[in-house]
Amino acid sequence: MELIQSIKERRSINFFEPGVEISDDTIRELLSLANLAPSSFNLQPWRVVVVKDQERKKALRKCAFDQPKVEEASAVLIIIADPDAVELNGERVITSWAELGYLSGEEQKEMSRGMMKQLYGAKDSLTRKLFAAKNAGLFAMNLMNAARGLGLETHPMDGFDEGAIKKEFGIPADKIIPMLIAIGHLKKGVTLLPRAFRRNVEEFTGFDSYK
Ligand SMILES: Cc1cc2nc3c(=O)[nH]c(=O)nc-3n(C[C@H](O)[C@H](O)[C@H](O)COP(=O)(O)O)c2cc1C
Repeated sequence: MELIQSIKERRSINFFEPGVEISDDTIRELLSLANLAPSSFNLQPWRVVVVKDQERKKALRKCAFDQPKVEEASAVLIIIADPDAVELNGERVITSWAELGYLSGEEQKEMSRGMMKQLYGAKDSLTRKLFAAKNAGLFAMNLMNAARGLGLETHPMDGFDEGAIKKEFGIPADKIIPMLIAIGHLKKGVTLLPRAFRRNVEEFTGFDSYK
C-alpha cells in the first residue's frame, strides 16, 4: 500500500529548496536501492555521476538549457547507460549465477554467454544501445520511487546537450545519457499544480492483441 501511495504521490518537482544538502550516505542508500532494479540478464548497464558541488551544478545547468532546478536541487544525477556492460559485467553475472546454483556446469555457462552475445548484438549496434537505455530507464524509475521512500523529491530531465555534458564531466563518447534526475526537497511555500493529464488505460491497452 505504501508503494502504491508513493507512486500516486510522485511528481516532477520544478522548484527545489536551494541550499539544502543531502549527505553522501543518503545518496549511496538511494543508489543502492535503485541498483535493485531488474535488468536484462542482470547486466546492470548503468553508471551515475552525482553532481552536488554548487559550481559543478552551475556548469551542468549550462549544459541543460539553463534549467534553474539543476542548480537549486540538492543533487543532480547524470544517469548513464553503458552499452559495454555485456563485456564488463557478463562474466560476473555468470559466475554469480553458477555460485548461487542458477547454472550448473560449463555447458550451461557457455549457453548463457552465447545468449548474451546473440541478444544484445555488436558493441556499437542499435540493439546494444537500446539494451543499455531501457535498463538504465528502469534503474532511473526505481531511483525515483526509492527517493520518495526516503522523503525526497525528484525531477527527471532530458532537456540537455548530451555532447556538452559528456565533455564537461569526462563521460566517454560511446556512453548514453538517457536523463538527468534532480533530487532534493520541495521549495517552501510552493504549491504544486494538479498532476497533468494521463490517458485512459483503454486508450493505450489491448488485451490479447494490439488493438
Ligand atoms: C525522461 C524524462 C525527461 C524529462 N525531461 C524534462 C525536462 O528536461 N524538463 C522538465 O521540466 N521536465 C522534464 N520531464 C518531466 C515531465 O515533463 C513530467 O514527468 C511529466 O510532465 C509528468 O509530470 P509528473 O512527473 O509530475 O507526473 C521529463 C520526464 C522524463 C520521464
